[in-house]
Order: sequence, then structure tokens, then C-alpha cells
Amino acid sequence: NGQPTTATIEAGKPGPVYHKEVFTQFAEHLGTGIYGGLWVGKNSKIPNTNGFRNDVVSALRELQVPVIRWPGGCFADEYHWREGIGAPAKRPVKVNTHWGGVTEPNAVGTHEFFELLRQVGAEAYIAGNVGDGTPREMAEWVEYMTAPAGSLADERARNGHKEPWKVAYFGVGNELWGCGGNMRPEFAADETRRYATFVKAPAGTKILKVASGANVDDYNWTETMMRVAGGNVDGLSLHYYTLPEGGWPPKADPVNFDEHGWADTLNEARRMDELITKHSAIMDKYDPEKKVFLAVDEWGSWYAQDPGTHPGFLRQQNTLRDALIASINLDIFAKHADRVRMTAIAQMVNVLQAMILTDGNKMVLTPTYWVFDMYKPWQDATVLPIEIKSPWYSKDQFTMPAVSGSAVKAKDGKIHVGLSNLDPNQPNTVTIKLDGATAGAVTGKILTAPAINSHNTFDAPGVVKPEAFSGAVVQGGNLVVTLPAKSVVVLELQ
Ligand code: AHR
Repeated sequence: NGQPTTATIEAGKPGPVYHKEVFTQFAEHLGTGIYGGLWVGKNSKIPNTNGFRNDVVSALRELQVPVIRWPGGCFADEYHWREGIGAPAKRPVKVNTHWGGVTEPNAVGTHEFFELLRQVGAEAYIAGNVGDGTPREMAEWVEYMTAPAGSLADERARNGHKEPWKVAYFGVGNELWGCGGNMRPEFAADETRRYATFVKAPAGTKILKVASGANVDDYNWTETMMRVAGGNVDGLSLHYYTLPEGGWPPKADPVNFDEHGWADTLNEARRMDELITKHSAIMDKYDPEKKVFLAVDEWGSWYAQDPGTHPGFLRQQNTLRDALIASINLDIFAKHADRVRMTAIAQMVNVLQAMILTDGNKMVLTPTYWVFDMYKPWQDATVLPIEIKSPWYSKDQFTMPAVSGSAVKAKDGKIHVGLSNLDPNQPNTVTIKLDGATAGAVTGKILTAPAINSHNTFDAPGVVKPEAFSGAVVQGGNLVVTLPAKSVVVLELQ
């Protein structure tokens, strides 16, 4: 600890693209993720545009959210799209059986979702219903959204949208091994082939189909899906949540934790690297050309929900620890950018590792939001190989390299470097050798806070917020960076 770290960035050997879709966000009909968090309705006193709250949408626009995954999650495999179109007053009110047993008004349906995308400037990742839906229902939903002509296109026009929408990604069910139908992998793979057949894009357009993938380390699932259905889809998903304190069910408190909880959680987050490595190796066997991408379309921290919140709403506070979980994952995705072309953090607003928390008309941006903000230059940049030799950070039974990082050449031609110091006690000085590039000057931003569990509240929204960073210098051609303890730093080389 406290020992210097060395790193090399091979700027002359650019790697794969860091696809902007890695910054996809997941918005499910769960708790106040949609209702209250994004949608307040047109008649609300909370300032809104066509029902979506202006404060939240403008924060999301600022983040340049590329894609939004909707409507679930587990909700997707019970969702019937026809219940969410037409006059709102005539839409059926259902029970959200997965999440809290509350009523689902169907006020946000297909048209409203595309309105949200329009306002945010994002593309659609629709999760279809394989669980209790039919291939015909799925096919008709796709046709309703995308067809330029025909009776479903006419119906869409009568409901207020003449032009077809673009569906960039379509999920063929969600968690088919669990809430999506408790299927065995062989059956799920056959169902995927069948349902995917009927997801048809109109001539001249493309919808990328994503098969429901493995839970955590279920390598047999990936093996079977790739063998049986790998040729029928464009992507395969993987779900891995960061769950400290012994896994499922989530027991850890989101805020009241000590250094043991910090180290346990960051160690769990780092496991993403091993999981992607092993799932990718299986995919390589069936798809050496890497035509099928891995979509880590649910990731993030999952703790016990905030005391006093509605059961099943998965509402959790977000601390500096979550900021580190985000940066560690974003660095891992850089390492695997050749296979991981999409990921979706769970979730966007008020649910799990959220970007934004709301309560009534109040809104606060979380530490995770700020990491996504700082990493914006990674969107569609080129990954630069980085090798980091870091001392260990240890606490109790948990040992890990103290420094995580990634480097990219952004679309503006500049090199950006992200470095996180996982050690909550010691600063770390990193000396970076730049192979194939020279740095004249360096600027940066830092996210840190007084305590490991520092967080933003409605009353104190700026406790964890990026600030200008002056701890990096160019010295003898190297970049020398002093990372304060428990910090995320992003640098731009001039
Ligand atoms: O994100 C919450 C839930 O986690 C999703 O609905 C489900 O897909 C996963 O189990």
C-alpha cells in the first residue's frame, strides 16, 4: 500500500471500438423506476414534457444515454404490448406481480417509451415477451413499431405516430432460466430460435436480436445457447449483479457499511472480468469471428433496499462505493471490447444502482451518474491497450490490485485515461509510459468524497461530485498521476 504503480499505454496499437452502447441504461416497470421517476403524467404539477419530467430528462440528455432497455426485466415476459397503446383511460390496469404487487396503469406504453427516447436522444432496446407471450404477439409488436405500411402501421398512425420507429435492439425474452419461464437451456435455445424467426425488420432496416443469456457463471447456458441458437441472433446477454455479503438474497446495507463491506463489494465487482473472460471463451469456440456480441444487459450493485421503502421496489441509496463499482466495470468492459459491444446498468432511475433518485418533485444525481458523465469520451472511442502494475489493496480476506484503469483514443483524437484507486486509505502515484504518443499537457477531473459511504441527498446534492483535478503532470515524457485514496480520476491528454 502506498507503493507506486506503473502502467504502459500502447497508443500506437489501437484496439477495438468501445461501443457507445456499453453505456445503455435499463428502465423497467419496477418500483418508481418509470412511474414517478421518469413519468409523472401530462397533468402533473412537476414540470414535464408530454408526461416525462423535465429535470430527469435533461440530466439524462446531459449524459448522452445512447440506448434505453425497456420494459423489463422480469416485467417483459408478462408484458402485453396491446395493453399499452390507445386511449390511456381505456388501458387495462394490471397487477405488477413481480415488483411489489402494485397496480400497473399501462400509462407508459410503446408510444410513451418512444417519446422518452426522442426527448433523451436515445435508441430503443425492446425486451420482448417469450415467457407468456406468443411468437405472433411478438411479431405484431415489431410490425406495429417498425412497419412503414399495413394495418398495424395504420393503427400506429391512428394512435398518433405515422412514421415507423427504429428498433435498434430487440431482446428475445429475459432471464428465460428464471422469471422468463424457468426454462432449461436446451428448451430456451429452441424457443429463442423460434421466436427470433418472427422478429423481422422491414426491408432496408436492421434489428439486432439479443438472446437471453446466462446468470452469472452458468457456462452451460452460454454453451447451449451458442451451439443451438448462436446462428439465429446477433447478441447473447449476461446478467451479473454485484452482491456483497454472501450473495443472494441481497443483505448488505447500501449506506451503513465499513471497510470490510467496501472491500467485499469492490472485489465482487471485479469478478465481472473473470465471468466475461470465461463466457467469451465459450463464445469464441462457436463464433471465432466474434459476430455474436455479448450484451451484459444487467449489471450493477444490488443491496438490501432502503429502510422504509416499499417491498419489491429495489430502491437503494448510492454512495462513493457505487461510483467505484461503475468505474471498475467500465474499465473491464474496455478490456473485453472486442466481444462486449453492449451493456446496460440496472437501472436508470430509483431502482438498484441508479443514476438518478427522485422523491416527488425532488431529484438528485448519484455518484454513479457522475462516473458515467466522466466516462462520456469512451463512447465510440478506440480502446488503447493498458497494462497496470499496481500494489495490492487488502482488507480482511479480500485482496485486489489497488488501481483499476482503461485508456481510449476518443473521436476527437485525444487520449483519455480513467484511473480508480480502490484503496480507501492510501493515495497512489501512477507513472504511465506512453508508447506511440507524446503528451504535451494533461487536464482531468476527480470524483472522491470524505467517506467511503459519502452520498448525495436531496438536501445535500453535491457531496459526491466531480471536481477539476490537478494531480497529474507530464514528466520526462511520462504521465505521473497521484490518485487520492478512494477516487475515480479521468484525464485528457493534450
Ligand atoms: O433488475 C431487476 C431484475 O433483475 C430484472 O427484472 C431481472 O431481469 C433481474 O433478475
